[in-house]
Amino acid sequence: MILAAVCPASASLQAADGAALFKQHCALCHGKDGRADTPAAKKFGAKDLSASKTEDAEISRQIREGKRDDKGKQLMPPFAEKLSAEDVSALVDKVKAFRKP
Ligand code: HEC
Repeated sequence: MILAAVCPASASLQAADGAALFKQHCALCHGKDGRADTPAAKKFGAKDLSASKTEDAEISRQIREGKRDDKGKQLMPPFAEKLSAEDVSALVDKVKAFRKP
């Protein structure tokens, strides 16, 4: 699963559409451009993905497992049950595509 996420060759062969998936599941909190410049982003404290330096495996884990704060409050919901491994892999690529060169 993690191997698929770091292999760019497999990403181009799969049907999962990272842009569409992002719009559907993530844009509410992270913004269409990933910059977290939305009211929901501010409410939840979502991160600006264009400034993220998180590695593939960690991005993939965060998408699957979500994120809670120290007190156990859900910050980002887990998507493991909603998304396939291919979907998560496409989203890892999409997340990284927001980064500045
Ligand atoms: C309910 C709002 C919400 C939704 C929906 C959401 N996120 Fe998040 N996301 C957050 C919050 C809040 C954080 C910051 C958590 C923290 O403080 O570490 C975050 C952090 C992240 C990070 C880590 C950024 C970093 O480098 O620290 C990634 C990657 C990420 N989200 C990707 C996604 C993807 C991909 C989706 C769609 C599948 C998604 N998120 C959906 C709220 C959300």
